[in-house]
Formats: sequence, structure tokens, C-alpha cells
Amino acid sequence: MSTAEQAELRGAEAASVEGAGRTDLVPIFIMGKRYNVPSTLTIQKAFEFAGYQLIRGCGCRGGICGACATVYRMPGSAKIHVGLACQTIVKPNMYLAMVPFFPANRAVYDLEELKPDAQTLLKYYPELAKCMGCNTCTKSCPMDIPVMEYISAALRGEIEKAADLSFPCVMCGICASRCPAELGQYNIGIMTRRITGRHVKPRAEHLQDMIQRIESGRYEEPLKKLMTADMETLRKLYVEREMEPHTADEMWEPEIKQFL
Ligand code: SF4
Ligand code: SF4
Ligand code: FES
Repeated sequence: MSTAEQAELRGAEAASVEGAGRTDLVPIFIMGKRYNVPSTLTIQKAFEFAGYQLIRGCGCRGGICGACATVYRMPGSAKIHVGLACQTIVKPNMYLAMVPFFPANRAVYDLEELKPDAQTLLKYYPELAKCMGCNTCTKSCPMDIPVMEYISAALRGEIEKAADLSFPCVMCGICASRCPAELGQYNIGIMTRRITGRHVKPRAEHLQDMIQRIESGRYEEPLKKLMTADMETLRKLYVEREMEPHTADEMWEPEIKQFL
């Protein structure tokens, strides 16, 4: 840690103790500026506690949307850590910044025309061939996804395997921000999942059935009734609706089958 950093930390610690008489505050550094925040907050809430209004870089707040990619470093160490701001609890003296968007390459394609092979992926993402197998992407993924493995599978044309491995990806972009070969792994991953869904997996019959039922106009009348109902009727319908029991198994069906 440099002398300047040590001095700043000492100042931060002193300020934390003084902080409005609270003893639960810890110093953190958001984009280089020091703030004292409650030690139990997530990084996302710490930003807000510090006065930031999150318009970008904040979505679901539940670890699903991937909007809140964050990088941070601890004093005395060169290691860059990563995390989702809505899931990671602050650590005293962390230096951090959020990366709400990373400008990775994103191909435009017509899914209907794509083939489930390596040539297709290389046509839209030729940089795939530049992967040098450094594994930085896997080490930096906050979802613990074997990113390099799905990239290797994609390069070998094992589209379904790449789709399966990349399935939990929340598109946070951290892997791309760290990749020395400038791949946009998450955009390649979603392409393999789209190709798998459209051209590899069998068509879901129940989905086809449902589309046919919708197109047959079966739901037009009940929908019209709902849309023209007054508030009192809507309240009554809502309160009296048949609910799926918490203990229902996957074969459960409502007694009224009119809307199935
Ligand atoms: S970080 Fe980039 S170059 Fe390294 S293994 Fe991952 S995709 Fe390949
Ligand atoms: S694969 Fe990349 S974009 Fe997806 S969750 Fe992991 S780091 Fe984020
Ligand atoms: S806000 Fe959606 S993952 Fe953090």
C-alpha cells in the first residue's frame, strides 16, 4: 500500500468512528472518494447510502439481471475482485467502481438462418478464434460459470454444450471486461442458447398447443370482460380467484378449466 493510501485509510477510519456517533460504519472508496457506510450493506445499498441515485447499473436487485457488475480492490493487494453490487456485502477499505455496461461486440443475425455449427459462430464472432485459454473469464465470473469451457465448446461447434454451460449467465459483462482477446463471451453464449432452442432441441408441443389456442380466439371473450370490468368487479374476481396450493405438484390443474 502506498503512503498516500495509508494516510487516506487512517483518515477514513477516524471519520468512520466519528461518523454521527455510529460505530457500525466502515470506510469504502467509491470511484476514489471515501464514504462511511454501514458494514452490513450490499455495495448497491452502500452507493445509495452514500447519496448516489442508481439509474443505470441497477435492475432486479436480486442477482438475476446482471446490471450491477462491480470491480474492487483491497488495500495492499493488486488483485482485482469482481461481484454483483446487489449481492456483495461491503468490506472495510475496499476501492470499488461499478461497470454497468461493457461495449462487447454483439452480432446481428437472423436466427432462422443460423446453423448449429462452429462456422456459424465464427462468421458472426471471428474473435472466438483468438481465445488463448488463459481462463481469466472463468476466474472473474461472479456466477461461477466455467466461461472458458463454454467458449471452447462453442469453438469446437458443440453448440448444445456451450448453451448448457452458459445457461446461468446474467450478462453482467465482467468476463468481457477482463478478456485479453476481446471476446464478448456472454453474447456468444446467448447465441448458442438461441441456436439450441431454435434448431437443436425438439419443439415444445405444449407451447404449440397454447399458441393454437390463443390464435383460435379462445381467450378473447374472457379478456374483453376483464378489460371492461369496473374496479369493484375486478376486486371481487381477484379475491375469489382459485389459487394454486403451495403444496401442489406439477400435475395440478384448476377446477375451472375454461382458461387452460
Ligand atoms: S479470458 Fe478471453 S482469452 Fe482468456 S480464456 Fe476467457 S475467452 Fe479465452
Ligand atoms: S459469463 Fe460473463 S457475463 Fe455471464 S455472468 Fe459470468 S462474467 Fe457475467
Ligand atoms: S441489480 Fe440485478 S443482478 Fe444486481
